[in-house]
Amino acid sequence: MRVLVTGGAGYLGSHLVDLLLEHGHEVTVLDNLSTGKADNLAHCLDQVRFVNGTILDEALVDRLVEKVDLVYHLAAAVGVKHIVDRPLDSLLTNARGTEVVLGAAHRWWRKVVVASTSEVYGKTAKIPMAEDDDRVLGSTKVHRWGYSTAKALDEHLVFAYSDLGLPVTAVRYFNSYGPRIDPRGYGSVVAAFMGQALSGQPLTIYGDGTQTRCFTFVDDTVRGTYQAGMSSATDGTAVNLGNPNEITILELADRVRTLVGVDTPLRFISYEERFGKDFEDTGRRVPDITRVQDLLGWEPTVELDEGLGRTLEWWKQTFS
Ligand SMILES: NC(=O)c1ccc[n+]([C@@H]2O[C@H](COP(=O)([O-])OP(=O)(O)OC[C@H]3O[C@@H](n4cnc5c(N)ncnc54)[C@H](O)[C@@H]3O)[C@@H](O)[C@H]2O)c1
Repeated sequence: MRVLVTGGAGYLGSHLVDLLLEHGHEVTVLDNLSTGKADNLAHCLDQVRFVNGTILDEALVDRLVEKVDLVYHLAAAVGVKHIVDRPLDSLLTNARGTEVVLGAAHRWWRKVVVASTSEVYGKTAKIPMAEDDDRVLGSTKVHRWGYSTAKALDEHLVFAYSDLGLPVTAVRYFNSYGPRIDPRGYGSVVAAFMGQALSGQPLTIYGDGTQTRCFTFVDDTVRGTYQAGMSSATDGTAVNLGNPNEITILELADRVRTLVGVDTPLRFISYEERFGKDFEDTGRRVPDITRVQDLLGWEPTVELDEGLGRTLEWWKQTFS
C-alpha cells in the first residue's frame, strides 16, 4: 500500500514508518520537525519520501493524501508542558490540523487512523477506562484540558466522517515509551527519570507521586496502530491502546533507579511550581482493552521491566 504518515519523524511515527517498511509498504512522511527529528528516520531516509511541511497547509496535505491509499495521522503538538506553555499553537495544530487531514481524506476517499490519547478521559474516577465512558474535564481556563478537548474534537470529526461512510478510526494511546523517546522528557516521565538517573541528578516528581499511569512499550503501541490501519474491524470506532498494568510514579522512579543502578534522591515539585496555577492532574489512568482485544486481537506483549531495559540500552548507545 501507499501510506502517508503525518508526524512520521516523531517518536511513535518513526517506529510506525519502520513497521510499514518492514511489511513492504511505500511510505511518505509529512512532518514539520517541530518536535520530530530527521535523525529518527536517518536509517531509512533512502526508502521514504520525506516532506518537510505542516498539516496546516491544506493544499500540501490534499496533494499528499491524493497519492496514497491510507493515512496514519500522528502529527500533533504533544506533551502536557508544551500544551500548557503554548496553548494556542497546540490547539490549532491538534484541532485544525486533524480537520485538514480528514477533509482531504474525505475528498479522496482514503482511510485514516487518527492518533488520540488517554487524556480524552480527563480526570474521570472510573477505572478501567472504556472507550464509551463519560469524559470528565476541568474548567476551560485550565490549559491542560485543551489537549484533551482538541483530541476529543478530532474524535468527533472521526465519527462524523464515519457516518458519511469514510473508513476512519481513532487509537487512544496510554503513555507510550521506548527507544527514540525524546530525551528532554517534555512529554514523558520515563524519559525524564532515565535522563536524571543516568546523570546522577535527583528524579523530579510532580505532586506526591501516588498518581498512577499505565506504560506501554512502543512496539506494542505501534503494532496496534498498524493493525488498526490494515484491518477494517475498528473503522468507525475508537480503541484504547495501552498496557493495563498500573504503576505509581513513585514505583516507576524506583524501577528506573534500580535498573540504572543508582540511588539518587527524589525531588518533589508541586504542580503549581511546574505547570502554573490551576493545573490539575489525573489521579489514575488505566485502559480497558476488551474492545481492541475483540476487534484486533491486540494485547501488549512487553512488560515494564523488559521495556525499560530496552529503552535504557538504546539511550546508552545513542547518548554516550
Ligand atoms: N507518546 C505518547 O505516549 C502519546 C500518548 C497519547 C497520544 N499520543 C499521540 O501520538 C502522536 C505521536 O506522538 P509522539 O509521542 O510520537 O510525539 P512526537 O512529538 O515525537 O510526534 C509528533 C510529530 O508531529 C510533528 N508535528 C507537530 N506539529 C506538526 C505540524 N503542524 N505539521 C506536521 N508535523 C507536525 C512533530 O514534528 C513530531 O514529529 C500524537 O498525535 C500524540 O498526540 C502520544
